[in-house]
Amino acid sequence: MVRYVDLITDAVQSGRKDDAAQSPASAIPESFFSRAAQAPAVKEPDSDRDVYLALWKQMQSIKAGIREKTGFDILPLKEQVRAIAGSPDLLDRLYHYTTRFGNEEDYTASHSINTMIYALKIALRLEYAPEDLEALGLAALLHDVGMFAVPDSILLKPEPLSPGEAEAVRRHPEAGRDTLAPWSGEMPWLAQTAFEHHELEDGSGYPRGIRGEQISEFAKIVGLASTYEAMTHDRPHRRCVSVRELIDTKNRSFSPRVMRAFLEQISLYPLGSLVRLNNRTLGRVVRTHAGQPLRPVVQIMEDADGNRVAEDRTVNLLGNPILWVTGAVSEEELARLTKE
Ligand SMILES: [Fe+2]
Repeated sequence: MVRYVDLITDAVQSGRKDDAAQSPASAIPESFFSRAAQAPAVKEPDSDRDVYLALWKQMQSIKAGIREKTGFDILPLKEQVRAIAGSPDLLDRLYHYTTRFGNEEDYTASHSINTMIYALKIALRLEYAPEDLEALGLAALLHDVGMFAVPDSILLKPEPLSPGEAEAVRRHPEAGRDTLAPWSGEMPWLAQTAFEHHELEDGSGYPRGIRGEQISEFAKIVGLASTYEAMTHDRPHRRCVSVRELIDTKNRSFSPRVMRAFLEQISLYPLGSLVRLNNRTLGRVVRTHAGQPLRPVVQIMEDADGNRVAEDRTVNLLGNPILWVTGAVSEEELARLTKE
């Protein structure tokens, strides 16, 4: 199956991005919740999950409306985005769900929601006004609607795409712009963000290859958030390696201003990722600190001798100068842990 993350990893290395595999709209699958068992032990009220799932259902209904050509409405989304953009606390709680959702086979909706959550966190750091946060949140949720109409025969194809099929995927920014055109009078940034979110700072993006200030800031934020979302889902064992490529200072694909805000808000080691510490213990990231991407809070899962740690033992790397993360766990280590 062609996956967003495969295309995107290649894109960051080559200065080119492409887009996600999509599946038809469907009822929420069992697998949707399967990551919850592996997720960090963070207590959230049920209402936060309801907020996430309400958005998920709205996005699925938009996708169905596009595929079946029955139309769709974005008004309910506006209300939901307003509630989230207006509450940094709610946004922070929803941030925890970005590690739980996004790995299911049909991750169309969760990719959009997670992208919105990351984009809003970046914009908060940039001190956006409340109305701009709302506008950006809606633009982020709808940035990939151009992918919704791409047929599964292309997106679920296990073999490499033919040049014609790849071109169909690469046309999704234009398709998104056209889909959102009816709202361009009132909210021109929706179509603009969809059209520009694969443009890159150095001009190596698509569809137009525009650069720097020619790209709207909404598109720069959503483009980075969307890329990060794709890199941190679906292949957990590659997380940190991929994210390192993303934030490489030699990476000229993203705006330095947006990248700085991103790094100050979102850990280099994402929530839920597995890391090895310098004392050879292994653990899962359960909390991150704004502005301290290298020093998360880690729940220890294995001691230095490889023995499972049963009790609840967490280490806060902030203010702990003798402990640090040496890297993500290897694929072999992850496979061993999953088997146990
Ligand atoms: Fe896209």
